[in-house]
Amino acid sequence: MDGNGRWAKKKFLPRLVGHNKGLESVRKIIEYCIKYNVKTLTIYAFSTENWKRPIKEVDGLLKLFSESISKESKKIHSNNIKLKFIGDTSLLTKALQIKIKEIEKETSRNKRLVLNVALNYGGRLDIVNSVNTFYNNKKRIKKITEKDINSGLYTKGQSDVDLLIRTGGQQRMSNFLLWQSAYAELFFSKKLWPDFDEKIFVNALYFFQNTERKFGSVSKST
Ligand code: FPP
Repeated sequence: MDGNGRWAKKKFLPRLVGHNKGLESVRKIIEYCIKYNVKTLTIYAFSTENWKRPIKEVDGLLKLFSESISKESKKIHSNNIKLKFIGDTSLLTKALQIKIKEIEKETSRNKRLVLNVALNYGGRLDIVNSVNTFYNNKKRIKKITEKDINSGLYTKGQSDVDLLIRTGGQQRMSNFLLWQSAYAELFFSKKLWPDFDEKIFVNALYFFQNTERKFGSVSKST
């Protein structure tokens, strides 16, 4: 969801206005996922590196997360969406942690869409945590397998990423779902996140549909 800050700057507005506008695009992408039958959506709301931003922006973002969880929770549940937070939530305020646990529990049986919100998330942290959990539980094991690592990730039980969309013009992963995106198709758009719309979403789906996924093998037409 890159480009909130630049969107605001272009309009001579504070960066937080860009993040607020970005939240509207989050609502839109959830709608599109339901409309086009996408079963899992993961949004990168706050990375383990985002703490380096000015305190005012960090506080504003955390307030925005907290308020929107309270405001949207009913709608999320009534739309049959299962909400899951991935990342180290232990650094968040106690109140936010409680809110997160409550909504995760309330929506845990929902089936229409799994919505992962990556909050204080880092792909490297995810892998390191998984290995440590495994090591702490089974100290005498000599070899660790891919399955073992999968089973300790924040996204355990979910499938790998099929399609990764990044807006804002940069073409990098920024520590997002590194393990899970090993074979993801990468779609980059120059549009800034607040300007995200159905046309970009559908273009990304077409791009995915027209890409032959080889997973290291050869083309079926070879
Ligand atoms: C990156 O743009 C965006 C973020 C770090 C925050 C995204 C958060 C939201 C859109 C709010 C979502 C709310 C919930 C509840 C999940 P940037 O600030 O790096 O933009 P820039 O590259 O133009 O500076």
